[in-house]
Amino acid sequence: EGEEVMTADIRAQVLTETAETVLQRRYYLKDAEGKPRETWETLCRRVADAVAEAKQKPTNYEELRRRFFHMIYHLDFLPNSPCLMNAGTDLGQLSACFVLPVPDSMDGIFTAIRNGALVHKTGGGTGYSFSRLRSKDASVRSTQGVASGPLSFAAVFDAATETIKQGGKRRGANMGVLRIDHPDILDFIVAKQDQQKFNNFNFSVAITDAFMTALAEDGDYDLIEPSTGAVRRSLKAREVFEQIVDLAWLNGEPGVLFIDSANRDNPTPQLGLFEATNPCGEQWLLPYESCNLGSINLARFVENGAIDYDRLQETVQTATVFLDNVIDCNRFPIPEIEEMTLKTRKIGLGIMGLHDLLIQLGIPYGSDQGRQVAATVMQFIHDAAEAESIRLAEEKGAFPAYDATLNDYPPRRNAALTSIQPTGTVSMIADCASGCEPYFSIVMIKHVMDGDRLILVNKYFEQVARAEGFYSEELMQKVADSGTVIGHKEIPKKWQEIFRTAQDICPDDHIKMQGALQKSGVDSSISKTINLPSTATREDVKHSYVLGYNLGCKGLTVYRDGSRDSQVLNTKERS
Ligand code: CDP
Repeated sequence: EGEEVMTADIRAQVLTETAETVLQRRYYLKDAEGKPRETWETLCRRVADAVAEAKQKPTNYEELRRRFFHMIYHLDFLPNSPCLMNAGTDLGQLSACFVLPVPDSMDGIFTAIRNGALVHKTGGGTGYSFSRLRSKDASVRSTQGVASGPLSFAAVFDAATETIKQGGKRRGANMGVLRIDHPDILDFIVAKQDQQKFNNFNFSVAITDAFMTALAEDGDYDLIEPSTGAVRRSLKAREVFEQIVDLAWLNGEPGVLFIDSANRDNPTPQLGLFEATNPCGEQWLLPYESCNLGSINLARFVENGAIDYDRLQETVQTATVFLDNVIDCNRFPIPEIEEMTLKTRKIGLGIMGLHDLLIQLGIPYGSDQGRQVAATVMQFIHDAAEAESIRLAEEKGAFPAYDATLNDYPPRRNAALTSIQPTGTVSMIADCASGCEPYFSIVMIKHVMDGDRLILVNKYFEQVARAEGFYSEELMQKVADSGTVIGHKEIPKKWQEIFRTAQDICPDDHIKMQGALQKSGVDSSISKTINLPSTATREDVKHSYVLGYNLGCKGLTVYRDGSRDSQVLNTKERS
């Protein structure tokens, strides 16, 4: 297969109108007048060529650029947005995820704000742990005063972000983490109750195993002053947990991160512990680490009602080489990030279109079989990526921090391989369900000019409805109005099950899917929303967190339908 076959005709078949619009607005490079001077084909060539060349043209350059081009052009795999936007340009910063340390000193705090600004400028998102900062009334020796505490500093980070658009193309995104045993935790939990505040942050509480044990035993746990290690006071675990649950029930924040579960899987504990994730939670990183992401579009791997594992394997191999190369051609925003990233060479290979795959196979997302298939595919992707990373280590060397005496896995090129990113915008380009999420709606009515209405029907649903003769505009209107395919007698029961959307799938099934994927092949973590109905109670939220923890999830985000006026990081509007 050569580049010759990729003509405009194929392009027209591949990209939807929405995809083309998104690309024109934000991805195609522009000329001096601000008009796009790229097409999907030339964008793919720019990305494929730059990443194939990496530092210097390898001997297999021609083969690599062809393989990279083919996989991106046909939407089998897409790298994260900064890579699509910046590869082969002067900016050249290709990663989406960064974690920066916030040391307990004026110099350290404002250095972190500066570094964060430099990351945002290039299109990356930043995660910070504020857990090292002394609590708000702890003493400051040099001035004999009292400290401002993590929250007042977080407000400065927020203000800085507000003024910097990421690479001019997206708004800045931050994750702010505070440990459950920090003395200021109660203030942190309620900090975003005022919806005017911290709008450039997702806040998450880092929950420890000790806390979960205290919770199970209905006991107390200690709050510890980070600057001295002294126990400040004890709190009832249940009461603090109920605070978190109350706020999450009210507006979806704070999220929870299970920090000890994450550190049990830390591939390089010799370099330090995880303290924070990137903004959407799918990457646990050490301070100053960055990670570039890319997602396999599972919608494209069903052939005659079965998964095409051979082609999936080839694509995973190519994607692994691609993401590893991205590390070498990346222009890092500051030297500390370059140094840490090159030590561990983490990549985040994930998926999108999981729901498309299940629909094509005729399996409901919220079923045992759905979880089994998802877990099998994810494990397959992980194992194929790992085999390729081991091969790359033989060819180019293992990641420098690898230490056979400390690490219980074979030498490989990348300390972490898999994670599941939200794919908020890249899934719009690929026209599939985002990340590992189910579709959010099946029929939508779009109001266009002159009061005209456009009926947008999920492509698989339309195909099925037409093939089985139950398609009618009237029915589509009814599905749009009710927001669900459930309960319409014209739709056969089987299809009602298969076309359940995020709101129709019960919360436990969302969590079990996240748990199944986490256990089967996801090294780092998963960005996923657990959708709860508007009628869900606080008990339901509590139950979700405990179930997620017990199933080995490394973090959890719940969202109760209609609870937040305007969602800051709602998947499709985020970028
Ligand atoms: O689809 P796309 O590659 O644009 O991004 P995503 O999968 O929705 O998000 C992946 C990661 O990019 C997030 O976890 C953030 O670390 C980062 N991100 C960001 O920095 N700013 C945004 N507005 C959106 C995402």
